[in-house]
Amino acid sequence: MPSTPDRKLRSTAWFDNPANVDMTALYLERYLNFGISLEELRSGRPVIGIAQTGSDLSPCNRHHLVLAERLREGIREAGGVALEFPVHPIQETGKRPTAALDRNLAFLALVEVLYGYPIDGTVLTIGCDKTTPACLMAAAAVNIPAIALSVGPMLNGWHKGERTGSGTIVWKAREMLSRGEIDETGFIKLVASSAPSTGYCNTMGTATTMNSLTEALGMSLPGSAAIPAPYRDRQECAYHTGRRIVEMVREDLKPSDIMTRESFLNAIAVNSAIGGSTNAPIHLSAIARHMGVELDIRDWQTHGHKVPLLVNLQPAGEYLGEDYYHAGGVPAVVAQLMGAGLIHEDALTVTGTCLGENCRGATIEDDKVIRPFEDPLKPDAGFIVLSGNLFDSAVMKTSVISEAFRARYLSDPDDPEAFEGRVVVFDGPEDYHARIDDPALGIDERTLLVMRGAGPVGYPGGAEVVNMRAPAYLLREGVRELPCLGDGRQSGTSGSPSILNISPEAAVGGGLALLKTGDRLRIDLGKGTVDALMDDAELERRRAELEAAGGYAYPEAQTPWQAIQRGLTGQLGTGGILEGSEAFQ
Ligand code: FES
Ligand code: MG
Repeated sequence: MPSTPDRKLRSTAWFDNPANVDMTALYLERYLNFGISLEELRSGRPVIGIAQTGSDLSPCNRHHLVLAERLREGIREAGGVALEFPVHPIQETGKRPTAALDRNLAFLALVEVLYGYPIDGTVLTIGCDKTTPACLMAAAAVNIPAIALSVGPMLNGWHKGERTGSGTIVWKAREMLSRGEIDETGFIKLVASSAPSTGYCNTMGTATTMNSLTEALGMSLPGSAAIPAPYRDRQECAYHTGRRIVEMVREDLKPSDIMTRESFLNAIAVNSAIGGSTNAPIHLSAIARHMGVELDIRDWQTHGHKVPLLVNLQPAGEYLGEDYYHAGGVPAVVAQLMGAGLIHEDALTVTGTCLGENCRGATIEDDKVIRPFEDPLKPDAGFIVLSGNLFDSAVMKTSVISEAFRARYLSDPDDPEAFEGRVVVFDGPEDYHARIDDPALGIDERTLLVMRGAGPVGYPGGAEVVNMRAPAYLLREGVRELPCLGDGRQSGTSGSPSILNISPEAAVGGGLALLKTGDRLRIDLGKGTVDALMDDAELERRRAELEAAGGYAYPEAQTPWQAIQRGLTGQLGTGGILEGSEAFQ
């Protein structure tokens, strides 16, 4: 069994510290009490923490409870000792008021565990939307050897011979319900058909996005992100991940060696090619800040906008997670981008080799699902970054704007990139649900829907509510989508053309707080601007009025953490992290 002769493991400060025999004995006796032997703890074996995100409260990640067995076998065979511990559970769709509130909480708690216990390296068990960034943020902050193991997507969902994708089917089912085509039981059955097995969302939502980007960042084994949760290959991947983390500890290969600016730029390019979620800029900013890497929201436009869409997964396309895996997964996508010179090939990965080396020669196995670079699904599939007289930054995926849709909002026949419309403003998701079908709002097919009070302070954590459906009367007329703008987020499983993550949000004095129903907005995609069509004097008059009334009102905090988070969180444009916490790297 190889040992680590030339470098002391950090766990020796607990288990083998001759300068403090009292404490060493105390530490040892309590780890020995569950049956681990003295020899195992004092023989220079790397102690590997398995950061367990699976539980009954986290169904998306629950399969990690099974995978942990294979992880342990890999760790043990490579000469390590495995200690498994729970991570604060986060389940995207089940947590009220929003799972985003818990990303920073899980991060904080995991940092304390990784720092404060005898752990030489860690396996991050990632999956459901916020579990991935929370784990990577913590690994970045503590900077001990770390490798991520994805739980993998669910199997494909099916209904009447058609693929039903998680999240995405909900938008369709809602429309069918509001048109009276299905009843409540039919609604639940249709939605449940999209979740046929253990695993995370099988669409290109935030989970598949963040697990793919983790691989693109170099933080998980090559080819691992796309393996469906129930496949035997997933078990094998767990075993190899366990073996590899032990070697990484011996090599002292740390997150700071892997998550460099180049690897973040690789992740941005891959995000465009996979049709990734608009939540990705928030999470990658957060991870980068904890890693001490410069990454600006404008890097998404500079390095991502011109990258074409290659992966044909719902919601942008047709297929689902199993198809993505069989078509070649992340390595096939990276290899296509490498051919176009869009990847920093020498970015190091958990294997100890570079991304270029890992992915060179990876082939597309099904070109209906992953398209070659020369024949993409869409050109320019990345985000553009917008600003204007109401806010400093927002992101938008322009590739989802249809021609028919463009025509409805064109303000000037000579400028195909400029749009105008009258706004209808909602204050938070409850207000929207209560009023969206009210004919008195006068919503027609040229209206812009605005959602405010949904940012990290207003709706603590930031709600995934900006993608609003059109009123039922318009759906019946065949108007499926209206453009939406907001200071909250949008589910990665929705394909709506929305302007999202508006920073600063209304609750901290952002200009959205000054808008009124009936105002007009001009969106110029060519210039990257969104402006309320009113002069500065009017904006200032409204601001004075708002301030005199005590500022933008939002609901009281219901828990201690909501109140604490509100006091510390930054805005979505800079990652929504607890400001000041990035100083501890
Ligand atoms: Fe957990 Fe989608 S809700 S992965
Ligand atoms: Mg989500």
